[in-house]
Amino acid sequence: MEKREEKYRGKAKTVYATDDRRYLVMHYRDDVSAFDGAKLARLEGKGETNNRINAYVMGKLADAGIASHFVRLLNDRESLVRAMKMVPVECVVRNICAGSMAKRYGIDEGYRLPEPIFEFFLKSDALHDPLVNDDHIRVLGWATQHEIEEMKSLTHRVNRVLKPLFAEAGIDLVDYKLEFGHPIDDPNGPLILGDEFTPDGCRLWDAKTGEKLDKDRFRRDLGEVIEHYREVGRRIGAPL
Ligand code: TMP
Repeated sequence: MEKREEKYRGKAKTVYATDDRRYLVMHYRDDVSAFDGAKLARLEGKGETNNRINAYVMGKLADAGIASHFVRLLNDRESLVRAMKMVPVECVVRNICAGSMAKRYGIDEGYRLPEPIFEFFLKSDALHDPLVNDDHIRVLGWATQHEIEEMKSLTHRVNRVLKPLFAEAGIDLVDYKLEFGHPIDDPNGPLILGDEFTPDGCRLWDAKTGEKLDKDRFRRDLGEVIEHYREVGRRIGAPL
């Protein structure tokens, strides 16, 4: 597989074409972004760390029968993925109340939800990823009712795999964001997981101390961001 031209540059990753249109190279940069790009920085080693954590987590999901675009690690900072047509929404599951949900409803961060809560957000930095419901998504044509059901079901299935995986490492999986799409060579098949699963897109708290091990360290200026990402990788057994 030969790497070709840059196709898309996101806030933390760059995507390159390959000589096969069905596959792309996902390059994890050291850039970090928060608040829809309002806060930006470079964190030495983040690309490598996230590339490896993502590969490990996607492997665990594949073992559990949850398909994703991830094919294989190529090198320290790059993975081969299937080219996808993405659904323009973000799927969040919360086990513990934090972040925007705590703010929106005036609930204390740390409140353990009696059951997981699912939320959809529209993927739009310009609009600050507004919360949207099933009707918005279906009526405005972002996804079909069937795809809405698939996204909810898959996001909850991921929770049933990853919550225990992190718990065994002494980490509470507080919440996380997933994105789905159709591989371009299977546009009418089932939705599969795209993007990434790394400490950039979830909240992870030390189960004993409550210490934050995720991107909130950057958002809230807590310091030692990558040291904590690496700690997550080590604890779950990801080869770093
Ligand atoms: P929130 O509390 O800001 O709504 O975020 C919930 C979880 O989803 C948190 O782990 C961060 C993640 N997330 C992203 O990574 N990117 C996003 O654009 C959004 C809306 C959430």
